[in-house]
Amino acid sequence: MTPPRILDGKAVAAAVLDECRAEAAALSARGIIPGLAVVLVGEDPASQVYVGSKVRTCGELGFHSRKIELPAHTTQDELLEVVRALNADPAIHGILVQSPPPKHIDEEEIIRAIDPRKDVDGFHPENVAKLALEDPSGFVPCTPAGCMKLLEVSGIDTNGAEAVVIGRSMIVGKPMALLLVSKHSNATVTIAHSRSRDLASICRRADILVAAVGRPEMVKADWVKQGAVVIDVGINRVEDPSKKSGYRLTGDVDYAEVAPKCSAITPVPGGVGPMTIAMLMKNTLQAARQLG
Ligand code: GUN
Repeated sequence: MTPPRILDGKAVAAAVLDECRAEAAALSARGIIPGLAVVLVGEDPASQVYVGSKVRTCGELGFHSRKIELPAHTTQDELLEVVRALNADPAIHGILVQSPPPKHIDEEEIIRAIDPRKDVDGFHPENVAKLALEDPSGFVPCTPAGCMKLLEVSGIDTNGAEAVVIGRSMIVGKPMALLLVSKHSNATVTIAHSRSRDLASICRRADILVAAVGRPEMVKADWVKQGAVVIDVGINRVEDPSKKSGYRLTGDVDYAEVAPKCSAITPVPGGVGPMTIAMLMKNTLQAARQLG
């Protein structure tokens, strides 16, 4: 059996970031410094890591960035006020409120309050509609955009392929399905989820299987067709006393058991994760270009 191709998201992301650095320099020469604001409410440790690397990447590319860390007890109105101030700030082209916020926050209302022209997450209803309409002026959510880029750069042909997406979130599953079925991609798409009957047999149909459920190592070898391409979006922390941090990161796919059956697979970490940040930087450049 030939070993699978490991889809190296870190390397592809680095190439995307090189392009972003060059475009940021060109924009800056015209007096436009791309600016991203990242808002974190509360102290979720994983979110703190993600927000930290988003802001750090901005610095590496010559973007302006602002990290706004708010206490967990921040009220809905206080958060809305922060978003409105960022909407009005000409130095900020992109606004991202890290998800999930604390339970008392109505995330829907916060997303709707973001100026859709600055919604670099692509979560605002206007951008969700533009994705469905295949209107390129909208913003595509970063994680599914990163998955598509990884497939494209790796030369994986989605035309006519059977794709199965496990997970129906607005952050990954639904936009991923729309991208796969779009006229650029032309896959035949099934969206499966926790209530799907006989998930394993649905997954076994897939030429391209995208796992975005947030359940560590849920996808097993007998869920995967021989020769399938497997994209693992999960980044789960599982306890591991042998690690200094006390945990290790694992995907939604049981990599050790699934990898030998695949033609290509993304590792965790180093697969989809770095692509998400790279696509956020691309979206921020798009916002800066469009807002001028
Ligand atoms: N939490 C997990 N992924 C994302 C993302 O892409 N954007 C935001 N805002 N929060 C997230």
